[in-house]
Amino acid sequence: MRRTCVTVAFLVAGLLRVARAGDVSGAPAELDHGRALRRSIRCGRAHSVILLIGDGLGDSEITSARNYQVGAAGRLRLDTLPFTGALTSYSQQENPPLLPEYVVDSAASATAWATGHKTSNSRLSTTAATDQPLTTILELAQERGLRTGSVTTAELTDATPAALAAHINHRSCEGPADMQACPQYLKANGGRGSIAEQTVDHHVDVVLGGGSDRFNQRIDGGPYSGLTVTQSAIAQGYTLVENAAELEAAVPGRKLLGLFAPGNLTLEWTGERATAYPGSGPQRCVEQQRPNREPSLAAMTHTAIELLAAGDARFFLQVEGASIDKRDHVADPCGQIGETIAFDAAVGVAIDYARRHPDTLIIVTGDHAHTSQIIPAPTQDDHSPGVFSTLITADGAPMTISYATNLPGRKQEHTGTQIRVAAEGPHGADVVGVNDQTALFATMADALGLRRPEPEAGFLPALRRLLGLD
Ligand code: CO
Ligand code: CO
Repeated sequence: MRRTCVTVAFLVAGLLRVARAGDVSGAPAELDHGRALRRSIRCGRAHSVILLIGDGLGDSEITSARNYQVGAAGRLRLDTLPFTGALTSYSQQENPPLLPEYVVDSAASATAWATGHKTSNSRLSTTAATDQPLTTILELAQERGLRTGSVTTAELTDATPAALAAHINHRSCEGPADMQACPQYLKANGGRGSIAEQTVDHHVDVVLGGGSDRFNQRIDGGPYSGLTVTQSAIAQGYTLVENAAELEAAVPGRKLLGLFAPGNLTLEWTGERATAYPGSGPQRCVEQQRPNREPSLAAMTHTAIELLAAGDARFFLQVEGASIDKRDHVADPCGQIGETIAFDAAVGVAIDYARRHPDTLIIVTGDHAHTSQIIPAPTQDDHSPGVFSTLITADGAPMTISYATNLPGRKQEHTGTQIRVAAEGPHGADVVGVNDQTALFATMADALGLRRPEPEAGFLPALRRLLGLD
């Protein structure tokens, strides 16, 4: 990750020469790609960062969505980013010696990219075993005066957005009434409160997603005791929006809390779930199932960027396509692909913004791999032991997707393979190669110029820190 820009620039220049030499047609697409590459090797500071996380977006999920929507030879928007690498995603066991846990969950994964530190599954931006808070990229950005935003299709208290603005020992502690696993964090016990409370108390400028049921729970301690979390947000200067029209009418200058559903946002597409042999399908998915009053992920991304960037302000924005993972878990190929395509549209919004603002770093990745696999057509003798469905793709060909990481009818599981990362903009070249998820924190912090100097070693510096002189 720490390669120099000079080396990368040299390499890319060489690659471009080779590409041109073999390119007799002079296809404009190739030249565009070259421009994007040159822009991405810039070593200078990024004005802003947009991080897009597809929850459960492994290589299988990308490939099946591509095959279905644009055909095997087509390309999604996320495929057009000029730099691609792979990220390892393992987490830690909760107890010393903190051996690897090879299959990560969204909480430990989000902690890794948000803080640069590994932790155990279910923890949010706290250390395994010792439960110490870990500083997040959003907090660093806020400290330096950048605007911050977090957008998701899940509840705003779900693991990915939660890791940026909350520090807590268990991801299940989403609202003040959900604190069974986190009694030490109760406000009544002098703690920071639930994920919903911490998100609001953190004063993130733009937070958009679902989960109003959590925010309508009552706070049990501190200055807003007795109010709901939503009421405390309004008391702390937030404007509340609850549908797509209100979101569109939002103006910069005030903090914005968008709660568009009681739980997760409605799925974009539906279809037949996967079933045991002979499997479901062949099918085409039913599209446009999200009601108009709920904004699309692309619409939320568009408004978030508009509000955060107003007045040419610098910002950090996280955008999560959350239900790719959730539909993978329940073996719903149409739900999964519909959410992947909606996520890709949000990636498109970010890429279009960066085209006008080339000093924007865009990073697109998943948080862990998942269960779905593209497999050969089933026969009576040879077929998946799990559940599967056959879809008719944009090519007009059948594609069978299998879910077999658990028994049929049980919740399908995440998997432990490396995941794809792609980027463009200043420091975009940092993602090339095989890195760990934790490196994303360093890439974003370096790009924004937020990295805190390493504490100086030695007795006198330690004494100065102890006496609070530094
Ligand atoms: Co996840
Ligand atoms: Co999951």
